[in-house]
Amino acid sequence: MPLLLDPAGRRMRKLRLSLTDACQLRCFYCLPHTPRFLPHRDLLTPAELLPMVGRLVELGLDQVRITGGEPTVRPELLDIVRGLGRLPLERLGMTTNALRLEALLPALWRAGLRNVNISLDSLREEVYARITGGRRPEDVLRAALKARDMGFEVKLNTVLFRGLNQDEVVDFLRFSEREAIPVRFLELMRIGPAHREQRSLFIAASEVIEALRHAGETLRPLPGPPDATAFEYATAAGARVGFIASESQPFCAGCSRLRLSATGFLRACLMQEDGLALGGLPLEDYPAALRSVMARKPLDRLPHTEQLMNRIGG
Ligand code: 5AD
Ligand code: SF4
Repeated sequence: MPLLLDPAGRRMRKLRLSLTDACQLRCFYCLPHTPRFLPHRDLLTPAELLPMVGRLVELGLDQVRITGGEPTVRPELLDIVRGLGRLPLERLGMTTNALRLEALLPALWRAGLRNVNISLDSLREEVYARITGGRRPEDVLRAALKARDMGFEVKLNTVLFRGLNQDEVVDFLRFSEREAIPVRFLELMRIGPAHREQRSLFIAASEVIEALRHAGETLRPLPGPPDATAFEYATAAGARVGFIASESQPFCAGCSRLRLSATGFLRACLMQEDGLALGGLPLEDYPAALRSVMARKPLDRLPHTEQLMNRIGG
């Protein structure tokens, strides 16, 4: 059996690589009330991390997405991106809250980054503040536009919450049409602190789609790759809008992702605490390690997890 095929025939291609569990925001659904972040000495150094990822790429992973916490708070971000930029990857991307992104964009481009997914849960200052504790969604938008202008592939990721930002869906669509930046709406997952509040705040993608159609929006389905997390539509004015319906329409059967935490813990699933520490493991033992991690990859969606999103890497 080829190494990166799991027992259910799923081919692993993508690595979510967390660079830190720390973040300057305090999104209520992601972090506990008083988060305690790992000390810097517990994080993999670039010298430890780059050979690990290099080996995983040699063994067949071909796309890397850097995540956190918030990857831009990691002091060695540029060194790490430079190292990753030298690997033979099909795609190198980063998921970020974009508050500190703008000034970093030229250096990130030179380092080989070409793709940024920007988390923005509200276009309104007071709602953004309620959700994230942060004050300046305009900084996020400015970074998004600059990244687009520089040639980065940019997407917005927006988690929807009943009674909080649900009424902004159409504003996001118009933004997306105006600026030619695709937006993707995420269902709130039962993970970390969100697991308790999830029930009252959760909105299923189907409800949003129905409301949009009811309001007169045309949504034309777009084709996507078999391991996509989002299904996408085009609006009449040509915006691309996607839905990541991880709760109501799980995509585990086509999942091609592995996750490496900032401390070097390899996991086959976001919802699973199980995994294997790669730190100190000789590179020749990676095939066996990968096999054992992939053998534990669940086939069906697990109901919830207490572990924290910022620790696993989104
Ligand atoms: N459900 C859905 N999305 C989440 N994120 C963090 N926690 C959750 C959750 N419980 C998102 C962030 C960011 C990405 C890294 O993951 O909003 O866009
Ligand atoms: Fe930070 Fe992202 Fe978690 Fe918000 S969701 S606190 S931006 S890591």
